[in-house]
Amino acid sequence: MYITNDIRYIGVNDHKVDLFEGQYAVPNGMAYNSYLILDEKTAVMDTVDKNFTEEWIANIRRELDGKKLDYLVVQHMEPDHAGSIAAFLQEFENTTVVSSQKAFNMMKAFFGTEYAERRVVVGEGSTLELGKHTLTFVTAPMVHWPEVIVTYDSCDKVLFSADGFGKFGALDAEEEWEDEARRYYIGIVGKYGPQVQALLKKAAGLDIAAICPLHGPVLTENLGYYLNLYDTWSSYRPEEEGVVIAYTSVYGHTREAALLLAEKLQEKGCPAVKVYDLARSDMAAAVADAFRYSKLVLATTTYNADIFPFMKEFIHHLTERSYQKRTVGMIENGSWAPMAVKVMNKMLEGSKELTFTQNNVKILSALNDESRAQIEALASELA
Ligand code: FEO
Repeated sequence: MYITNDIRYIGVNDHKVDLFEGQYAVPNGMAYNSYLILDEKTAVMDTVDKNFTEEWIANIRRELDGKKLDYLVVQHMEPDHAGSIAAFLQEFENTTVVSSQKAFNMMKAFFGTEYAERRVVVGEGSTLELGKHTLTFVTAPMVHWPEVIVTYDSCDKVLFSADGFGKFGALDAEEEWEDEARRYYIGIVGKYGPQVQALLKKAAGLDIAAICPLHGPVLTENLGYYLNLYDTWSSYRPEEEGVVIAYTSVYGHTREAALLLAEKLQEKGCPAVKVYDLARSDMAAAVADAFRYSKLVLATTTYNADIFPFMKEFIHHLTERSYQKRTVGMIENGSWAPMAVKVMNKMLEGSKELTFTQNNVKILSALNDESRAQIEALASELA
């Protein structure tokens, strides 16, 4: 497949994977992208997951069409991209590996060798001349591992962005970019907002016609839209006004409160209301929406003098991704000693720029007039 006249897509679609990175549900599979640049010298950009080595090497051979393969550029060492390095270097015995020193250190750990006899170590601003195409390497530490480099081809104005601008989903799946890109970004890179901001600043100085990520489609149009979303996500600003209600419920009473709050918010004209039962929803989707919207209500039961496990996990996902700059309300339930609000406040005390609502809701087992009035007050405050 042609990306430009000289750049070919040689990646693969994975429809066998159930949980990407061992935790993210990917109902539409996953793409491991790889690209071949054809010039006086030839270069492959990254490898693929080791389950797809043969298919990928066949793609390379087809597009190479008998030409010599000069370079393998390794931008990122996570095994979804680096899993086929060793097999590739056995197959292409005269190809030189181009990567960062940190990546070569990881190759030693993964494969037992740093390929000292057949490598070029590159760093910030290093270049690789292929002929018409000059590749310039830009370090992107923690986007999403420390060894990551991204690569700019000034000839075709292409940014090879490693994990950046990727999404869940194989390339042959029909789905919108935004939701699965957000779930991917928040889940996988969300902790590293400042590092993504640093990379965006470097990218701002480049004339970019296409972004070639390691997952998801090549982006060629309306690039400002994608860059703006990445700026919003990595600066932790809410994307939209709206309320996410995340709840756990043992016998349905907390659920009833969450749904009543959702109904009240809708009645009051709240622009978006999303409700997640954390025990039954995709946790990564709930986390992504918590970052998407401006307000969040956490509704849970007191449990073993703590909070219900799914809520604990949810809040942990938020705090480890630097959840901030939003409004948070709480609903607690407890049959004899409700303390969920206290526990949740404690869990969020290190989070920056959170505004907590004046009106929280306390349920003693089941809703009554008093707790219904509290829900009304919380809805009014949030709407
Ligand atoms: Fe797609 Fe961080 O690997």
